[in-house]
Amino acid sequence: MGFNPLKEKGIPLENQVQSWQQINPQPYDKNEIHPYTRTRIILMNGIEVEGAIFKHQFARHCSDPEINRQIAITRALEQQQQKVINWLSPADESAIEITIGYEQVAVDLTAWLARTEKDKTVKDALDFALLEDFDHLYRFANLLELEENKQAEKSVRDLTEIMPGRPTISEHRHPYDNIRKPVDFQTADILTKLHILTIVSGEQQTMNFYMNVGNRAKTMIGRGLYQEIAQVEEEHVSHYESLADPTSTWFEMLVLHEYNECYMYYSCLESEVDERMKKIWQHHLEEEIGHLHAALDLAKKFEGMDASDMMLPDQFPELTVFKSNIDYVRDILKNQIDLNCDGFDYVETDRLSRDHRFHQHQEIVNAGIVPSQEVVQEHIESKGMDYRLEMEGEHPVERLRERQVVLV
Ligand SMILES: [Fe+2]
Ligand SMILES: [Fe+2]
Ligand SMILES: [Fe+2]
Ligand SMILES: [Fe+2]
Repeated sequence: MGFNPLKEKGIPLENQVQSWQQINPQPYDKNEIHPYTRTRIILMNGIEVEGAIFKHQFARHCSDPEINRQIAITRALEQQQQKVINWLSPADESAIEITIGYEQVAVDLTAWLARTEKDKTVKDALDFALLEDFDHLYRFANLLELEENKQAEKSVRDLTEIMPGRPTISEHRHPYDNIRKPVDFQTADILTKLHILTIVSGEQQTMNFYMNVGNRAKTMIGRGLYQEIAQVEEEHVSHYESLADPTSTWFEMLVLHEYNECYMYYSCLESEVDERMKKIWQHHLEEEIGHLHAALDLAKKFEGMDASDMMLPDQFPELTVFKSNIDYVRDILKNQIDLNCDGFDYVETDRLSRDHRFHQHQEIVNAGIVPSQEVVQEHIESKGMDYRLEMEGEHPVERLRERQVVLV
C-alpha cells in the first residue's frame, strides 16, 4: 500500500516555528553534490516560493481576517522551509553554474512529467517546452565556459546531454500563442493536477531567478543572454499556468498546493541518495502533512468541502523523480524540433502564413544582435567550436550537427 498523507499526523503547526540557527544549514559542497540532489533542491525551492506567493495572492483576494490569519501562519512556515532549502546553495557556486542546474531541472523534470502524463494536452505542452529548455542548457553552457572557463559537464555529469534544442532565437512567439486550453479539474487525474502545479512552480522559479540574477553576468553578451532566456521563461509560465483549471476555488487550490508539497517531499525522500538531505526532506514532509490538515480544516469550515469532494486519492500516484532521460529527449528532438504554436495548436513553423504574428514578433525582437546566437559565435571564435556534451552520438537532427558555425 502506498503512502497516504491524509492518514498521517505530521507535525502540528504550533511546533513548526524554528530558530534562525535551525533554518541556516551548512551549504553543500558543489564538487561533491549529486546532480539530482542539486536539482531536487532547486525544484523544491521553487515549490516553496510558489507556496508562499500563492498564499499572498489568496490573502489579497480575501476580506475575512480570520481566514487571512490562518493563511499567514502556514505562509510563514513555507518561508522558513524555503530558507532552509535555498540556503543549501554555497556562495562559491556562481550564478551561471546554478543556472546550469536550473536548466537541468527543466530538462529532466519536464521529460519525466511528459513520460508519466496521461492527459494529451498536458503531455504535448511538456514535450513542446522541453526542447526549448534543452536549448537554454546549451546556450548557458557556452556562456559558462566563455565567462568562467568552467565546463557544464562537471555539474550535469553523465545524466543530461548538452547540445542545441529548438534554437532559442526561434522560441520568441507573440504572447497570444502561449496560451493553452485549460484542463477540467473535475475530471482530471490527480497526477495531472500535481504535474501542472509542479511544472508551473519550477518554471516560475526559473523566470524569477533570471529576472533577478541576469544583471550579475559580467559581459554584455551574458547580460543579454539572461534577458532573452528570461523572456522565454515568461512564455513558459504563461504556457503552463494556462493549463490549470481557472474555475477552481481559492480553497481548492490551497489544498492542492499542500497536497503537492506532501507528494513532492515524499518523492524527494524516496529518491534521495544524500543522507543529510533525506533528513531535511523527511522533516519537511512531516511539516507539510500538518499544513495539509490545516488547509482541509479551512476548506471544510469556509466552503464545506472535504478531501473526498476534492478527489484526493487514498495513496500517492506515481512519484515524480529525477532520472536520466537521454533517449526520450533525443526522440522528441528528432520528431518535434520544428514545432511552433498557432493559438491552441502546435504546427510546424513552415505552415504559418508569412504574415503570421510570429514572424512580425520575430522581426522586432531579433533585429540586431541576438544573444543566444552571439554566445555560440563568440565561443566558436575563442575555442574553435561550440561547447557540447553529446554522449550518445551525433545530434539526432542533421542540420544541428555542425559545430564550427552558428546554426538555426
Ligand atoms: Fe512548504
Ligand atoms: Fe529554460
Ligand atoms: Fe522554461
Ligand atoms: Fe505547505
